Amino acid sequence: MSATARSRIKKLRELIERHNHRYYVLDDPEIPDVEYDHLLRELQDLESHHPDLITPSSPTQRVGARPLEKFLEARHELPMLSLDNAFSEAELRAFDQRTCDRLGIEQAEYVVEPKLDGLAVSLLYEQGELVRAATRGDGTTGEDITQNARTIDSIPLRLIGTGWPEKLEVRGEVFMPRVGFERLNARARKKGEKTFANPRNAAAGSLRQLDPQVTATRPLAIYCYAVGLSSDVLSAEHYGVLQKLKRWGLRVSPLVKRVSGVDACLQYYQDIGSQRATLSYDIDGVVYKINQLEQQKILGFVARAPRWAIAHKFPAEEALTVLTDVEFQVGRTGALTPVARLEPVEVGGVTVSNATLHNMDEVKRKDVRIGDTVIVRRAGDVIPEVVSAVLAKRPESVRKIKMPMYCPVCGSVVLRLEGEAAARCTGGLFCSAQRKEAIKHFVSRRALDIEGLGEKLVDQLVDNGLVEHVDDLYKLSREQLAGLERMAEKSASNLMQALEDSKTTTLARFVYALGIREVGEATARSLALHFGSLQAISAANEEALLEVSDIGPIVAAHLQAFFQEPHNREIIQNLQKAGVKWEESLPDRKQILPLQGKTFVLTGTLSGIKRDEAKARLQALGAKVSGSVSKKTTAVIAGEKAGSKLTKAEKLGVDILDEPALMELINGE
Ligand code: IVH
Repeated sequence: MSATARSRIKKLRELIERHNHRYYVLDDPEIPDVEYDHLLRELQDLESHHPDLITPSSPTQRVGARPLEKFLEARHELPMLSLDNAFSEAELRAFDQRTCDRLGIEQAEYVVEPKLDGLAVSLLYEQGELVRAATRGDGTTGEDITQNARTIDSIPLRLIGTGWPEKLEVRGEVFMPRVGFERLNARARKKGEKTFANPRNAAAGSLRQLDPQVTATRPLAIYCYAVGLSSDVLSAEHYGVLQKLKRWGLRVSPLVKRVSGVDACLQYYQDIGSQRATLSYDIDGVVYKINQLEQQKILGFVARAPRWAIAHKFPAEEALTVLTDVEFQVGRTGALTPVARLEPVEVGGVTVSNATLHNMDEVKRKDVRIGDTVIVRRAGDVIPEVVSAVLAKRPESVRKIKMPMYCPVCGSVVLRLEGEAAARCTGGLFCSAQRKEAIKHFVSRRALDIEGLGEKLVDQLVDNGLVEHVDDLYKLSREQLAGLERMAEKSASNLMQALEDSKTTTLARFVYALGIREVGEATARSLALHFGSLQAISAANEEALLEVSDIGPIVAAHLQAFFQEPHNREIIQNLQKAGVKWEESLPDRKQILPLQGKTFVLTGTLSGIKRDEAKARLQALGAKVSGSVSKKTTAVIAGEKAGSKLTKAEKLGVDILDEPALMELINGE
């Protein structure tokens, strides 16, 4: 029995490691999450029956360790260096000239990489197993953070492939992707806890947790960019070294390139700079490294930085400025958000004069006051925010920020309910700010998607008294629209058409568009699927609502309150009378979805639909979408340039569908 268990455990570990690598390192999973969970659970089960077979590098042991009292010191056999910076084209050209002169060459070959804004770590692998992870510290001695590093899914516990040296020390940057950072802070804000100033601090704070259970909950990731110690020579080129790291399962940035000459470096700087806002993580520049290791050796080091590399910095995403005033913006649900008015300042290449302060708890916690010098941060597409006040620069004349007692828009009383972070205007539909926001939400892309009805126009319509509530949108005439300031005849006709088009929608979109508190897109979709009709949703009691997978008591209460409000019912009726319609279906519980029990595999490039969208649509019809072809696959959907999956389907005799057939399937034609 134990022998069978042993071999099954071995097999499972190999499988899980392979899927971890595909998922976390290559971003290209082969199997759906549920199947992965299944494998992991089977391994956990087997190991719990055979605890003697558990090894530290088993994929189940990522979060096994107990909290530490303090970190042990970790000495770096080879010091961890830092980089010199270039802040301008001239500085970079001077660096390139110096380097070429020293090497006696005309043009240098560089590896160009993004400069990730996280913290440097060293990962030591012996016989292919991760035995130690350490922070950089002062470059000579860091902290032993092995058990925390083990919780980061993109750090392999064992190297894969073959040919790795017996001893290999890899260096890389641990960072926190922006979405994870925003979520972590939003959660902290909701609970009234301290937030992190930026993803770099969040990554550092998370990695330096004494309790690895805490680190495990933090969304950390790694990109590896160098090798420290190695018992074998890996390549004659830095680029070759990175390729090997990739083959052994270590994550290397896909943005790394090999280029010749300084002009190509500058081009890379431009390219990455223009992608910066849309990357899912913060970078503070790019790094250029001489590719040939022999040349690196000739160049050597000065002080604590190599002569063969330089960081070319982007404009900072944080800046200092003065907070001149605070105004309160009223949102759709009446929540008052303190917005800082700032002396205009350049942040990340854009002039910023307003920034959010989130809510009054944040203001209090950060102790920000009017007149303070503050740090403003603007990263990617995220709204600029005031991170903190610089207390050393506080003048005596500062004023405290106070929540107004009355709504700055409608004058209604402002109330803050127990347990809520936000204070709200009690004006409800009397408050034009709330009405405007409700209308903006109703027409937005993910709701009824009324093209051409932008924020300014909504403000105009409400201010001119043409629209009071969302149902009034469908009472507008072309003449009324054309009579508005800055509205051309043609735009008015287009808008009339867009309004007409928006009337045919889906139940999920409609429910989302209503703007019920805490009912986002996903919840609206669940409600639509579960109940099948608006009538059923609006009539559902708490018990029935709680049956829906992602609905808890708070959302249930908001839903009931919304549908009990006579005014809301009247608006819904008016919308339906105006012709807004959607298809209703049977409630999910009784419904057999048309593609239930079928499994599809998508491969190749689809031209008319994004792959994610195709996947979601198939799943909504009850199908499973898998990453790998087997005899059980119902059909492989092959787009342009389909590769091995198509060949495999042909070999197994699995049905093959093209894109038009997929569209038929999805549209139920
Ligand atoms: S190479 C000998 N490459 O920047 C060169 N560093 O300012 C050692 N960093 O401590 C570093 N991205 O934490 C290198 N692609 C990259 C990097 C990178 C980010 C960080 C690293 C280093 C700091 C130096």
